[in-house]
Order: sequence, then C-alpha cells, then structure tokens
Amino acid sequence: MIRLPGLVDLHVHLRDPGQTHKEDFLTGTSAALAGGFTTVLDMPNNAVPVTTARTLSDKIETARRRIVCDTGLYLGSLGEDLSPLAELHDRVWGLKLYLNATTGSCLMDATRLARVFSAWPEGRPILLHAEADVIDTVVQACRSTGRAVHVCHVSSRAELEPVLEAKAEGLPVTCGVTPHHLFLTDEDATGMGPVGEVRPCLKSAADQYFLWENLHDIDVVESDHAPHTPEEKQRGTFGFPGLETTLPLLLQAEREGRLDLDAVVEKCALTPRRIAHLPEQPDTWVDVEPVEFTITAESMQSRAAWTPFAGRTGFGRVHEVTLRGEVVYRDGKVLARPGSGRLLTPTGAR
Ligand code: DOR
Ligand code: ZN
Repeated sequence: MIRLPGLVDLHVHLRDPGQTHKEDFLTGTSAALAGGFTTVLDMPNNAVPVTTARTLSDKIETARRRIVCDTGLYLGSLGEDLSPLAELHDRVWGLKLYLNATTGSCLMDATRLARVFSAWPEGRPILLHAEADVIDTVVQACRSTGRAVHVCHVSSRAELEPVLEAKAEGLPVTCGVTPHHLFLTDEDATGMGPVGEVRPCLKSAADQYFLWENLHDIDVVESDHAPHTPEEKQRGTFGFPGLETTLPLLLQAEREGRLDLDAVVEKCALTPRRIAHLPEQPDTWVDVEPVEFTITAESMQSRAAWTPFAGRTGFGRVHEVTLRGEVVYRDGKVLARPGSGRLLTPTGAR
C-alpha cells in the first residue's frame, strides 16, 4: 500500500442545488473520497449562480445534509453589487470570479477586478477563471491591490508565462493545472468531437509540453471536476469529470518518471491546503493499492457516468480512506453517513 495524506481539491463543480441530474453533494463528495480527496472546494456557477444570501443559504442547507467529505463553498460575483461580499464572506471559504465565458452565468468584466478584490476580506482565498486574454489585467489588479490570487487551470504558454513572470516579480500569485490539460491535447479534442469541449479548451502539444516543463512552478493540480451527462456532452457542454481519475493519472506519470511522488503530495494536498488556508485534518489518510489498471467510467461514484480518460492506463486504486479516525470509504463503497462531512467556514459559522 501507498499511504498518502487526504488530498485537497480547490476546484470542483458539484452542481447541487439545481442540476442534480449531473451530480449532487452526495455523489460528488463520494467521487472525491473514491479519488482520495478528503477536502473539496465547490464552485459557485450553479444553475442559479451563488451570488446572493438566498442562493447561498439553499446551497449550505443542501450541503449539510449530503456531504461525506469536508467541503467549502465559493461565493461568486458579477462585480456589480459588492454588498454580498461583505455580508456573506464568513459563510463561504473563498471567492471565485469568472473573467471568461464558460458553463453558467457568472461572467464578470475584468475591469471590475480591483474594486471586487478590495471589497473582499484580506487574506481570504480569491480564485480566478482567467484565460490568456485577461491574464495581464489580473496581474495588474494583483499588483495594484496587493491581494493574493490563484489563477485556475493554466492551460497554455500564453497563460502560464505571465503568471511565472508575476511570481518572479514577487507578486502573491499562485496557479493550478488540471489533469486534462496535462494529459489531453487539442488532437484528442478533435477526436472526441463535441465531447472534447472544455474551458479553457485543450491546447497544442507544444503548450502541454510547456506546462510539463514548468510543472515545478505550478503550485497545485486541481481537477476542475465538471460533471455533465453523456447526452449533454454530445451537445458540447463544457467540462470533464476528474475527481476519480486525477490520482491514478498522476501516479502513472510518476511511474513513467514525469514527476515524483513528493510532487504529487505537494500539488494535491500540502500546497492547496496552504494556499486556501484550510484546516488540517487529524488522523486522516488514504491507502492506495499499487496496481495498474485501465481507466473506465464503470463503478465510478460520480453521476457523470463517463470520463475523457477511458482506455488510458492509471496506477493506484484507492483502497481505504480514513477521515478523522473513521474509515469513510473502502474498496468502492462509501461508508460515511450523508451529512457527516464538515462544511468549512472561516469562523465555523454554519
Ligand atoms: O469546462 C468547464 N466546465 N470549464 C469551466 O470553467 C466550468 C466548468 C463547468 O462548470 O461545467
Ligand atoms: Zn471550474
């Protein structure tokens, strides 16, 4: 067995409430446990975006009943009415801003960034969906406000290079990469047709090479678990499920000498916990059986019921997950009671 700490995913879309035909808090956090994750942070681009007290209360209520691993929520903002940021920040874990169009209706104009940063409490996580066209604006807002920001899912040289330059300048910028941008390219997307749609879209092999060459300076791996049904994918909805394939893809890459096990632990547990100031989980670990297998969507916990990595070789099956001393997952079965995960808020407020 390989024993790992409970993994942390800063970037998942569990769709609950509003689109539970794609996923809900129980199936989504079950997928997290099955993938070795004991903490996830859930994005605000629900069917009705989580930007107001009412939508947030609904989401908190639903999460409390269903989660089986520790879960924090992000607040969204369109950058127009800033009062929810001050009013609701202690009921969520972080703020997520979308500067490019993607699933949902959370799109915000990048010119509003500095104002929004300033309305958010200092020291609390800010994550950004910021593709190449807006990355300079992000760096400028970070420079002018001094706020720490995390750039999600860098997918290309054009996105990563400015982030690396900002880091070299000493700005408090971090970034994450997804398994799909590390393991799939635009050629795979072409082969998949509408099913290959994801935002940021899959990039060239040269861009992918740039990500791998600079992996040392990419702070975290984040799944961007974005479940949609196979039928929806045929219509080109954006996103791939990823919670149950991230670890086996990375462990297989480790076997191939592309990164080492310490880097997997750093990018999937230690650094995301540090970046998002997440609490330690005592007596929490994941036992992984060191076996090679062919990835399929069968027996996955996610309601998505498909994976873009089907047919690829993965390494390491999650055998058992122990959370705060309790075995919560063993050999394909979730043992935790729905609602037994902790809803994470900075003050413990619920
Ligand atoms: O492909 C994506 N899907 N990218 C995003 O930014 C959002 C996500 C989703 O929510 O479906
Ligand atoms: Zn996302």
